[in-house]
Amino acid sequence: MLKIGQISDIHIGNGEELVQGIDVCANFLKALNSDSMQNLDLLVLSGDLAENSQAAAYKHVASLLKDYKVPVCIIPGNHDDLNIMRKYFDLESKIHGDRCYYRYDLGGRTIFFLDSGCGNVSQDQLTWLQEEASKIKGEVILFMHHPPCFCGHRFMDLRYHLENMVEVQEVLAGIKNLTHIYAGHYHHQFEVNMGRQIVHVAPATQFQIDPNVPYFNLKSAAPGWQLIEWGEKFLETTVYFE
Ligand SMILES: [Fe+2]
Repeated sequence: MLKIGQISDIHIGNGEELVQGIDVCANFLKALNSDSMQNLDLLVLSGDLAENSQAAAYKHVASLLKDYKVPVCIIPGNHDDLNIMRKYFDLESKIHGDRCYYRYDLGGRTIFFLDSGCGNVSQDQLTWLQEEASKIKGEVILFMHHPPCFCGHRFMDLRYHLENMVEVQEVLAGIKNLTHIYAGHYHHQFEVNMGRQIVHVAPATQFQIDPNVPYFNLKSAAPGWQLIEWGEKFLETTVYFE
């Protein structure tokens, strides 16, 4: 069984400084060090590592992960700047043009990562994903920062949804060995049925945003994260909050 931890939307600011009064570094560490996140096979940071693309933010995250024994897969979010991130994390082989997308093979399984950092998923990535996924016999999973669908979050759906959702959904729907898609970005947990596919949206470690009003309203400053347990015949996703 593969045990994959997903931490999303950390939003570190200037190193260890508070961001909007919230200790985002402590929140990140609560997720990282929680009992549920021990003995992982893989840790995924699914975008928005930084609040405002600060070098100090990436430097801080990299220093916290320096002695971390588990492989870490990272994708950028809309708050990140890939050109700064690449100086602090080993992303060179994963960057194509100005986007960071790749597959990661682990324990006989394949995991895909797409870059929606600039608000959309480029056609190059969609073509690449189609081709690569068709080479894999078994089930694959996919991580991307933006959910590829509306989630029923009144603020995020309205203001910050994925731009080319229609094109992305059309391609994803055609990938028959893809059932589970993992995202973040919405600062709230959701499990959305998108046809036969399920989109698992992870909560943020920074804070959660009230999904019931069309303007920004803080719901909670407690961090959340999710754990994916992927066995031969099952895939289970569990959301945790502090
Ligand atoms: Fe985001």
